Amino acid sequence: MILNKYSRIYTKDDSLPASQAMLIGAGLTDADLRKPFVGICSTGFEGNTCNMHLNGLADEVKRGVAAQGLVGLRFNTIGVSDGITNGNDGMRFSLVSREIIADSIEAMAGAHYYDALACVVGCDKNMPGALMAMARLNRPSLMVYGGSIRGGEFKGQKLNIVSCFEAYGKKVNGQISDEDYRGIIHNACPGPGACGGMYTANTLASAIEALGMTVPASSSLPAESSAKVQECLDTGAYLRRLLELDLKPRDIMTRAAFENALVVVTVLGGSTNAVLHLIAIAHAAGVKLTMDDFQAVSNRVPVLADLKPSGKYLMEDLSKLGGIPAVFRTLLDYGLLNGDLPTVTGRTLAENLAGVRPLGPEQDLLRPLSNPIKADGHIQMLYGNLATKGAVAKITGKEGLRFEGPAIVFNSEAELNQGIADHRIQPGQVVVIRYVGPKGGPGMPEMLKPTAAIMGAGLGDKVALITDGRFSGGTHGFVIGHVCPEAYDGGGLALVENGDWIVLDAAQNTMDVRLSDEELATRRAAWRQPPLPVRQGVLLKYIRTVSDASHGCVTDLIEENGQVELPTTVVSQAALASA
Ligand code: FES
Repeated sequence: MILNKYSRIYTKDDSLPASQAMLIGAGLTDADLRKPFVGICSTGFEGNTCNMHLNGLADEVKRGVAAQGLVGLRFNTIGVSDGITNGNDGMRFSLVSREIIADSIEAMAGAHYYDALACVVGCDKNMPGALMAMARLNRPSLMVYGGSIRGGEFKGQKLNIVSCFEAYGKKVNGQISDEDYRGIIHNACPGPGACGGMYTANTLASAIEALGMTVPASSSLPAESSAKVQECLDTGAYLRRLLELDLKPRDIMTRAAFENALVVVTVLGGSTNAVLHLIAIAHAAGVKLTMDDFQAVSNRVPVLADLKPSGKYLMEDLSKLGGIPAVFRTLLDYGLLNGDLPTVTGRTLAENLAGVRPLGPEQDLLRPLSNPIKADGHIQMLYGNLATKGAVAKITGKEGLRFEGPAIVFNSEAELNQGIADHRIQPGQVVVIRYVGPKGGPGMPEMLKPTAAIMGAGLGDKVALITDGRFSGGTHGFVIGHVCPEAYDGGGLALVENGDWIVLDAAQNTMDVRLSDEELATRRAAWRQPPLPVRQGVLLKYIRTVSDASHGCVTDLIEENGQVELPTTVVSQAALASA
């Protein structure tokens, strides 16, 4: 069986001496040129706890790959820290970074004809970006998650990254001293690893494990554990097996696998960002996945896990109970997961879980089906005159299912932050944050700083927030994001004025402003699209190419007559056949 069917396009071809000369110059031997090439991509960089250890893990992957007689060739791509950029304009680059990551991995592995791919990733956009590239390339691939950070502690209070934003709200309201505020900042992030709650990174890692694209437990092994290093070392054997089986991402990331991922996101009470990212990954894999598919899963699957941000526990707590495999085992026993699907181990999901103990009454992190945290899913799709193409609500049940009140409108996150600082937010209001969508932001920034500040100010259960931007996985409260069409495209949000009465109903899945069609038409006629928010560079390219949130904000959408074309893989089959 030929395992180097891509790289031999140039390692075997006598007419391509430069290709071989450069590889030999890079340290490969003639024997190496006959081996399969594994691209090992790391999103490691120094300035972020989620990414600071990833290059070290990629070294371990390379060791494991070499031990299997494969040639590991490391390369890096970028990452953008959501924690660092939340609350400032840098956040506009965050969702954009997902596309850059996908594009750069596709370009590297595509250009250099790597036979297989391992991506070592750690922060929110790293993971969907890597998976999109794997799906586009469709060569044997797996993802290694960098793992979660340890929890922090200060004066007996357990901390994580969101504690910092909430502490700011308390500081603004005079509830904590400057000294304690600094103390929280100094102790919230005690080492490497991704944010520790069921925020976006852990949601995506768990969903991708459910998709079958990581080895078991990758999503719950802590960043600093020896088990995480062992996972990296084992990667070579799994990649070799994937090559031998010719088991590719599109064989694994099927429609049924995405349904498993949606179930896991729901059970875990995961981030709303999963909606965007799983739609985008599915698009890259040629699978049709829509917001309605999330709603269908939400209608039948409960929230069971008591994890932050709405709940009590962190991923490190789950890790001590057996980690994500124990959750999967439990869900398999409940009949909520399809265990027959292939995974990157070369075995099925159920085979991977053989011998794993389900979570029982000895713990209270994962509730039993008979006593769920919420009987249906927390991710609800709402439609109405404010969101004709849909919006995503995160409703854990703790906030109630319905909210109505007068609108208070802000045209940017900065405006809202100022409004909070000026104590303009009153109980009962629906806070509208608009012109922060994929084009308007641009980059559909997350609104963690204002939502956490509202929590910190004690208004979390007294106001609702709606936006065409996103919410961080760390956000909780009555929040609705991804409002589509976005205000910049003239969506309903653009027409709202202060004091308009807004009704949000997560039981009926509606969101409307109580205005007549005539009044809305009058306002629409008077509305003018704002000028471009940027005039050069990657953000301008993003505005020009990004699809709306209902299509996952992908930048390679082909739509004709309202029909989205499902992409086929980018590899030249002709080149492969002739190699
Ligand atoms: Fe990287 Fe949260 S900022 S996982």
